[in-house]
Amino acid sequence: MKLPALLIFSLLLFGCKTEKKAEGAFETDVPERGELSLDSKIFLGNRLFSEKTCITCHDVYSVKKGPSVKKIMAVYKAKDGDIVAFLKGNAKPIVDTTASQIAIMQENIDGFLKKITDEELDAIATYMMHVDELNPD
Ligand code: HEC
Repeated sequence: MKLPALLIFSLLLFGCKTEKKAEGAFETDVPERGELSLDSKIFLGNRLFSEKTCITCHDVYSVKKGPSVKKIMAVYKAKDGDIVAFLKGNAKPIVDTTASQIAIMQENIDGFLKKITDEELDAIATYMMHVDELNPD
């Protein structure tokens, strides 16, 4: 009984290895997500900001349901805040601390934001940090 199991195990191991090699052959030009350049990260973050519906409440310049991205970033830069930590529910709000407003954003943190990967959150935060370069006053 033990021999077939070992054989299957080594076949699996071998199978995985060859698969990885084959994958690698296609990866010469396409960097993995973790190796995205700053520009690509900002580009991706900008897209995710729309796709993940942040834009419906956060315009770049003006107040909508939530504060503008410019306003958020002015406060985060001044107070050295951590956007990703906030979006993961690990840091308190520092921009609009009105209870009713906090509740609106908190619902997102407890809801759809849980489905956004760390990489995506990092890209969104990177985009927000560079919003002034993309959108001059
Ligand atoms: C339904 C409306 C709504 C959506 C959608 C929404 N937000 Fe917000 N957001 C708010 C409101 C309201 C506030 C103000 C309360 C606050 O500052 O916590 C806020 C505040 C914030 C803040 C500042 C938090 C602080 O420190 O005070 C950040 C950063 C933020 N949102 C990012 C995002 C991102 C990124 C997304 C998309 C993934 C998003 N929001 C989607 C309504 C929304």
